[in-house]
Amino acid sequence: MEKVIFDGQLINRSEASVDIEDRGYQFGDGVYEVIRVYNGKMFTSKEHLQRLFESGKKIGMDIPYGLDEIKAMLEDLIQANNLTLGTVYLQVTRGVAPRNHMFPSSDVKPMFVAYTREVARPEENMMNGVKTISVEDIRWLLCDIKSLNLLGNLLAKQKAADAGCFEAIQHRNGTVTEGSLSNVSIVVDGVVKTHPANHLILNGISRQVMLKTCEKAGIPFAEKPYTLDELKNADEVFLTGTTVEVMPIIEVDGQRIGNGKPGEITKKLQELFKAEIEEQCGQLFIQQ
Ligand code: PDD
Repeated sequence: MEKVIFDGQLINRSEASVDIEDRGYQFGDGVYEVIRVYNGKMFTSKEHLQRLFESGKKIGMDIPYGLDEIKAMLEDLIQANNLTLGTVYLQVTRGVAPRNHMFPSSDVKPMFVAYTREVARPEENMMNGVKTISVEDIRWLLCDIKSLNLLGNLLAKQKAADAGCFEAIQHRNGTVTEGSLSNVSIVVDGVVKTHPANHLILNGISRQVMLKTCEKAGIPFAEKPYTLDELKNADEVFLTGTTVEVMPIIEVDGQRIGNGKPGEITKKLQELFKAEIEEQCGQLFIQQ
């Protein structure tokens, strides 16, 4: 029987039901995280949970448990579902209260839920690279918050899917921000360039791991804005994210990047990223 965490309790999934006046359901009033699980162990859980607390703070919402408490709950959930390779999704909403745009009184307890899902590593896309389109970034100006409000991201991702592409690269007036569910970086003359971690992007944990590996391996990098034009003419372009790891981009708007194959630095970063995973979660094997 699949288990979930519902209001902090480990219960059967079939017994979990959301109140129609949960503020997450009505307003998207809450925050979330997606954490990768390899070999039954969470990767960078502390960083994800710290970001959950930061997101909560930025919307004036208390996370109803401590970081270690949440980590222990998620570990119990992973174990209960025998998850070896997949993701754990967790969200905290501002709780259940009569619909009102104002925040409810402080006695309304935020609602914590979590569930697991089996997800393979996207090995084929990681090896061959993916096609993308560019779209105008129409989202709000607090993209650093991992908010449940994802409509802008969904519209972008659907445009990509309709165009037969994997991801939509968003830009504001020609400055590249991020993907719909990933961060975007380019490589020009051996230097990795990625948008600075400000209010216009989510400061991806995978982005941070990737930058750390650059530092360790002596690969030069810059956290600086770059244009869509620079991206289209870059030597290499790649995505980072919990579900995509380090994923090469081989095409943007029908235009080939480099020679249309995953670039050498991107491949190196994939290896370094894998080494970081293996350090925390044990050896990864190619799936059959
Ligand atoms: N998305 N940017 C956006 C808009 C994202 O939604 C995500 C993650 C990222 C990458 O962040 P991280 O490296 O911490 O996963 C960047 C998750 C996986 C999702 O919504 O499914």
